[in-house]
Amino acid sequence: MSLKLVLLLAAFGLAKGLTEVRYDNYKVYNVQIENAKQLELLNDKEQVLQLSSWREARHLGESSDVMLPPQSQQDFESLLTNNNFNYSIKIDNVQSLIDAQRPKKRTGYMEWTQFHTLDEIYAWLDVIETRYPDIVTPFTIGKSYEGRPIRGIKISYKKGNNAVFIESNIHAREWITSATITYFIDGLLVPRNPGVRDIAQNVDWYIIPVLNVDGFVYSHDVERLWRKSRLPSDPTGKCIGTDLNRNFDYRWMMIGASDDPCSDTYAGPSAESDPEIHQLTSYINNSIPEGSIKIYISLHSYGQYVLSPWGHTADEFPEHYPQMMGVAKGFSDALLRRYGTVFTYGSSATTLYAVSGSGKEWAYGVKNITIPYTIELRDKGELGFLLPPEDIIPVAREVTEGFVGMITAARGIGVM
Ligand SMILES: *[C@@H]1O[C@H](CO)[C@@H](O)[C@H](O)[C@H]1NC(C)=O
Ligand SMILES: *[C@@H]1O[C@H](CO)[C@@H](O)[C@H](O)[C@H]1NC(C)=O
Ligand SMILES: *[C@@H]1O[C@H](CO)[C@@H](O)[C@H](O)[C@H]1NC(C)=O
Ligand SMILES: [Zn+2]
Repeated sequence: MSLKLVLLLAAFGLAKGLTEVRYDNYKVYNVQIENAKQLELLNDKEQVLQLSSWREARHLGESSDVMLPPQSQQDFESLLTNNNFNYSIKIDNVQSLIDAQRPKKRTGYMEWTQFHTLDEIYAWLDVIETRYPDIVTPFTIGKSYEGRPIRGIKISYKKGNNAVFIESNIHAREWITSATITYFIDGLLVPRNPGVRDIAQNVDWYIIPVLNVDGFVYSHDVERLWRKSRLPSDPTGKCIGTDLNRNFDYRWMMIGASDDPCSDTYAGPSAESDPEIHQLTSYINNSIPEGSIKIYISLHSYGQYVLSPWGHTADEFPEHYPQMMGVAKGFSDALLRRYGTVFTYGSSATTLYAVSGSGKEWAYGVKNITIPYTIELRDKGELGFLLPPEDIIPVAREVTEGFVGMITAARGIGVM
């Protein structure tokens, strides 16, 4: 038996045998960072207080969402009070929200009233591939580290369309992304209004609903808040996984990524070290006609942002920045009209934080795709990764309207 196979079997056995990680009485705090001393304090205490970051402030004047276990909450609150932090408690008991996301009974079929497992999503892909063979072309970019197929579909009503490429759930715990994009796919197949019919018929859509399949399964079975891949590249064997959205081969490890395998933003041992990313970029290179993708979207949560390049610098803007912002405005305005949800847009480095080696940076920096975004769906941190299943349809509906607005804006400036 090859070493790789042994490791593979060990990894599966472990996942099966492991009991679910629980978060009883864990709290999420929103902490305002006003000065460098406060930022330093938080970083210094991260280990001893077992603080884990949900959303990180990397500039002064912003706020961080951090989760703490019950045993260190008192010390943490003293630290905050003694150092004049402004803070609030966003989530009182993380486990109760996790429990609320779990369906009491799995229906097994997609109706967007519960969060689905990878098996359920794949069973549904089988169904639509069979039901709409003239419109849906299935593809598989390859296998994940643990050997699962990474599946996507191309939706095309006719020849000669420009294309949009969407990868979703590259971060395992961001379940709302695959829930949203599967609803959107359903809408493209059976359009509910003329706007959606138009973008279904006149645009080709390449969509990978769950890119990080291993992490996604792990987030269902073992650790709800898992973010990374499951590649064990840490030589000490203590920490597992790469942040796949730091693993792309464009300015890899330059900024906003970590070389510590235990970090949640670990960029991996090398660019495209993880099969999920290497196969994604190979697929785009080799299986999609060069130049046909006009828009690349990496779907994430949370924060309500449309983020464009550059991630690595706030001092320079890409040549196509005005186009990127015009199309982001089209998306955000249309989305807002649905339920009043406000999305902010701008470059990553100027709007949120510096990042390099992410999908949208590669899409622009290497592939010259004019409109590349990271889109962060709802919310603003009230429930974070743990939106209730009742939110799936509203989020999916507003995003669908956003995509209609996005395509309209892209046409308006001649990108599509
Ligand atoms: C806390 O927030 C209030 C209101 O936003 C602000 O006026 C005040 O300066 C903040 N205090 C500190 C210590 O940051
Ligand atoms: C994909 O194509 C780009 C050029 O368009 C190239 O730089 C890159 O190495 C290719 N990556 C893979 C994995 O084929
Ligand atoms: C992208 O554009 C740059 C600058 O125009 C060019 O040098 C490069 O070859 C292009 N790359 C691809 C993959 O088209
Ligand atoms: Zn993410």
